[in-house]
Amino acid sequence: MGIAEKFIKQGQLDQEEYPELLKLYKDQKTIDLLKQEAVRIQKKYFGNKIYTRGLVEFTNYCRNDCYYCGIRRSNTNAVRYRLTKEEILQCCENGHELGFRTFVLQGGEDPWFNDERMVDIIQTIKKNYPDCAITLSIGEKSKESYRKFREAGADRYLLRHETANEDHYRYLHPENLSLSNRKQCLYDLKELGYQIGAGFMVGAPGQTMENLAEDLVFLKELNPHMVGIGPFIPHHDTKFAKEEAGNVELTLFLLSVIRIMLPKVLLPATTALGTLDPRGREKGFQTGANVVMPNLSPVKNRKQYELYDNKICTGEEAAECRGCLSRRARSVGYEIVTDRGDSPMI
Ligand code: 5AD
Ligand code: FES
Repeated sequence: MGIAEKFIKQGQLDQEEYPELLKLYKDQKTIDLLKQEAVRIQKKYFGNKIYTRGLVEFTNYCRNDCYYCGIRRSNTNAVRYRLTKEEILQCCENGHELGFRTFVLQGGEDPWFNDERMVDIIQTIKKNYPDCAITLSIGEKSKESYRKFREAGADRYLLRHETANEDHYRYLHPENLSLSNRKQCLYDLKELGYQIGAGFMVGAPGQTMENLAEDLVFLKELNPHMVGIGPFIPHHDTKFAKEEAGNVELTLFLLSVIRIMLPKVLLPATTALGTLDPRGREKGFQTGANVVMPNLSPVKNRKQYELYDNKICTGEEAAECRGCLSRRARSVGYEIVTDRGDSPMI
């Protein structure tokens, strides 16, 4: 039995075995085998439904300085913005009319949005749209802050672990950030009853197949409700400006692997995947992804939330992306739906 068959049979491998599987990401027979199994599982739990979340990028101020990210603190060329509460609510209003029932509030780690302001925004969105889920994606906070947001009505939290290897984590982040704290945040969030999302960039500078093996083992152990992976894409104003972008085939291969390893997981076909390949998101659905997260941010600010170069959908209105994604999903036999799309694990 080959390594792919073994993985499919067991739903996981030992850490030392993963590199052997991952190195086959260009092998057509293996690709097809994993893809077929991933889609079988995806159809079993989700049918041909693709869940959608409206992304509100409400601030690009950030106190952190992650080496890969375009809105890192030391990028003095970044034009900074913060949406007002009214603007955030307006994004939700547009989104709600378009059928979105999950709002993802994403931003840099911006101290201006302290607990009090976040709680007020969360409570107001929940009051206006009681049928909607709120997802936060605002980085590392204290457990106390996470508790307050949860009590205010936040349902889910996205915090990519970025890499499960200590040395690689050091390579990607400045001294003040640590993998242990990142993991602690994820466990705290889980304990507080959030549906949580972890994840990493495929092809991040310095990443090895052994690192990816560690990521997979960590994900299996954490057992998150959602896993966000997308290719690394260099940003011209960062330390990694001259690095190569991640590989689309490897990203798709990993989507299949993660779908097989965590059958009920929510798995987005990311904007980064769509940026590197014009049909990247469609290919993502066809390899196991079942979520998309189009942008609801005001078009005037879209280009300013630039984590990486050439990001797609920075000129389109939310309604255009909604229509575009419906057509794209339909073109490969899937359908965008408007439910909250809670994790089947809860
Ligand atoms: N390329 C791809 N993804 C990136 N992210 C940050 N910078 C980049 C980049 N240059 C991802 C990180 C982060 C998420 C919000 O965006 O994984 O967690
Ligand atoms: Fe935004 Fe296609 S999804 S234009």
